Amino acid sequence: MTTRVVRHVSELTTNDPTLGDYSALGRLFDAAFVVDDDQVLWVGPDAEAPDADEEIDASNRAVVPGFVDSHTHLVFAGERSDEFEARMAGVHYDGGGIARTVASTRAATFDELRRGTRTRVAEMFAGGVTTVEIKSGYELTTVGETRALEVASAFSEEVTWLGAHVVPSEFTNNRDGYVELLTSSMLDSCAPHAKWADVFCDRGAFSVDEAREVLTHARAKGLAPRLHANQLAHSGAIALAVDLDCASVDHCTYLDDHDIDLLSASATVATLLPGAEFSTRSPYPSARRLLDAGVSVALATDCNPGSSYVTSMAFVIALAVREMAMSVDEALYAATKGGALALRRDDVGHLGVGARADFALLDAPRAAHLAYRPGANVVERTFSPTTLRE
Ligand code: NIG
Ligand code: FE
Repeated sequence: MTTRVVRHVSELTTNDPTLGDYSALGRLFDAAFVVDDDQVLWVGPDAEAPDADEEIDASNRAVVPGFVDSHTHLVFAGERSDEFEARMAGVHYDGGGIARTVASTRAATFDELRRGTRTRVAEMFAGGVTTVEIKSGYELTTVGETRALEVASAFSEEVTWLGAHVVPSEFTNNRDGYVELLTSSMLDSCAPHAKWADVFCDRGAFSVDEAREVLTHARAKGLAPRLHANQLAHSGAIALAVDLDCASVDHCTYLDDHDIDLLSASATVATLLPGAEFSTRSPYPSARRLLDAGVSVALATDCNPGSSYVTSMAFVIALAVREMAMSVDEALYAATKGGALALRRDDVGHLGVGARADFALLDAPRAAHLAYRPGANVVERTFSPTTLRE
């Protein structure tokens, strides 16, 4: 096993409050840390750095934990830039374009899907993402959803079955039939290939009752629940997520005070996806109300060809800071530790001793450059024992 010491780190964010300045971000300046092929072994002032087999000089560079992107739809074929252009000209997003991606994904071969997913995963890794959750949801048949999960599993352990993305056109006049398929043979086929189950519970997709039914069945098959909620309209989806102890409820664009009270008293993370509001020209969620109420917040890309073709967590951080009044530190924490909480993982999203050796070396002296220099590729190099698999 090779050990490696990273020296002279100008600003090291560990997200371990027992380290450095003892803040939530556990920050050290002129710091060093030692990793082996798997995990962090030591963190401290550079002056006390121990020897290791290899040394990396991080002078004038900040280091942050690898980003944990807890919400993506990376397995798809085709693109929908025409819809983006139409939205920028005033057309409203209602999720209707999902059917177009379902058609192109169904028509793609397994290898085409794997290649496209690999390209997007590589883009994310280069941008500092070391853990990525990947959903199915663009096939909506038993065979198709199963193969999408197989593709996703080649790149991540955080694989989510989203058979309940929308009702496919062949079931338009028989939505109960589709829910029946979801909760029977599709779930049976998909459950062995996934860790999570998700439902798009929103206007034009699935109702709260339908979502409860799908997630309850999924849980009985060993899948842990998460939920897309309140992206397009307000509903009782937040209460459902809290009631089912979902690890995360995602989008949260429309929230009332009761939703916020429920979340603050729960272990459910509110995952905000400002790439979607950017790309659909929609109002941003109220991050401040959530944070001020003590709700755990995560930031993720929601990468998909319709509402958010975004692979850069740095861009998401920049949006959170500029458009949702999060501080840089809050946004960085939400993009790392917040994502880990949304996936109920304690080995990633931080750089305390024992954490997985996932980190991003920035070509910048402070992590604030992630938001301060939008559009620049501030991540110089990403390190992870997994290299996002494959
Ligand atoms: O999270 N909201 C549902 N699903 C995706 C969008 C999918 C699409 O438009 O293709 C989302 O935004
Ligand atoms: Fe999504």
